[in-house]
Amino acid sequence: MDAVLEQQIRDRIEQEKSRTGPPADAVPVPLIPTERYVDPAFYALEREHVFGRVWLFAGHESEWPASGSYRQFTRSGAPIVIVRGEDGVLRAFYNACRHRGAPVTRDECGTARRLTCQYHSWSYGTDGVLKAVPDARSFAGLDTGQLGLVPVRCETWEGWVFVSEDPNVVPLAEFLGPIREQMVEIDGPSMRLVGTQVHHLACNWKLMVDAFLEVYHIRTVHPDNAALLYDDQSVTVAMLPNGHSRLTVEKREELRDMPMVSPEYDNPSVPLLWRQTSTSFGLFPNLVVPMDTGAFTFLCMWPVDVDRTDLELRWYAPAWEGDEVPQDHTFRMTLFDTVMAQDTANMAPIQASVASRGARPFQVGWHERLIHHFQRAVDLAIGPDRLPPGTAVSDALDRFVEAS
Ligand code: FES
Ligand SMILES: [Fe+2]
Repeated sequence: MDAVLEQQIRDRIEQEKSRTGPPADAVPVPLIPTERYVDPAFYALEREHVFGRVWLFAGHESEWPASGSYRQFTRSGAPIVIVRGEDGVLRAFYNACRHRGAPVTRDECGTARRLTCQYHSWSYGTDGVLKAVPDARSFAGLDTGQLGLVPVRCETWEGWVFVSEDPNVVPLAEFLGPIREQMVEIDGPSMRLVGTQVHHLACNWKLMVDAFLEVYHIRTVHPDNAALLYDDQSVTVAMLPNGHSRLTVEKREELRDMPMVSPEYDNPSVPLLWRQTSTSFGLFPNLVVPMDTGAFTFLCMWPVDVDRTDLELRWYAPAWEGDEVPQDHTFRMTLFDTVMAQDTANMAPIQASVASRGARPFQVGWHERLIHHFQRAVDLAIGPDRLPPGTAVSDALDRFVEAS
């Protein structure tokens, strides 16, 4: 990894561990209005301007193994199908027939040479081009060249697949910025999906994101696992451009060099600093990725309603031989379930409190400032002028965003 960055993070860890008060450059973190978690108008704006426009994580290239492989993706709120063309290129389209709007596939995933609508059997190539119209003689002046599936932006980075419903969205590489270099050592192209898990939560999606952007809670919530492994006094964070972030917390000395996975399932490209710490990247808007040497998760917080969220864990690991998932990985997933159960138990009660007449704005600490940074990026994505009165967070921390 970049030696300058590594030294910078190690220095910051030492500074964090030695301080007895707030750092000299710390400022009070402005309050976060709780209406943001309950107001249906705010939620509607998020659906439109965040999930309807920003790049969203959709999976890994290997989940579309062959030409004709397709998968539905509905998390942005729209019906989308992502399909690998005969030329090997992944493309995304609205899963909506140009005849009268029926889905061109109803299957979650599969492989097909053509996507054929089940209403009147119009069929499309894997490149979205309309190929066949039954009873074409009954359509006067039919211009099939103008009736392809409507495209959705789809780009990949290091094997990771993202889609955006905004046709004019900035290129994915530009959106990810410094994350690209810092996360590259996961070695995305060598990865394979281990499995997925979905937890249905009774809370606003941002409450769950907030929880993954700080480790202040680990001593209280995870006393029997994360708190034993990590020294929460060592946490250092970076507010990166576009609402992204990086959080690093050091492992306790006696456990720092303990391998987390047996050698045959270890990912050798993960550098020493990521092994001796827990370093996780927050990718705006709803993705958190902890770096790891074996199986690791892409944690996605998908809004279902203003007070309903699907927490989707997508596990990946360096590709292995055969169909059976190595026990090393299933063991890891089971262990992680305990941690997740501890995290998610807080969500419905917090939602009840922010929805009550007793709700007051959140006062987060300097060590939790990534939460404010994330919330500010939500405001910027919506457009501050559109926000319902009294729901905005301050711009006071903008000057702490680091370019790299
Ligand atoms: S709606 Fe698709 S063929 Fe009619
Ligand atoms: Fe947690």
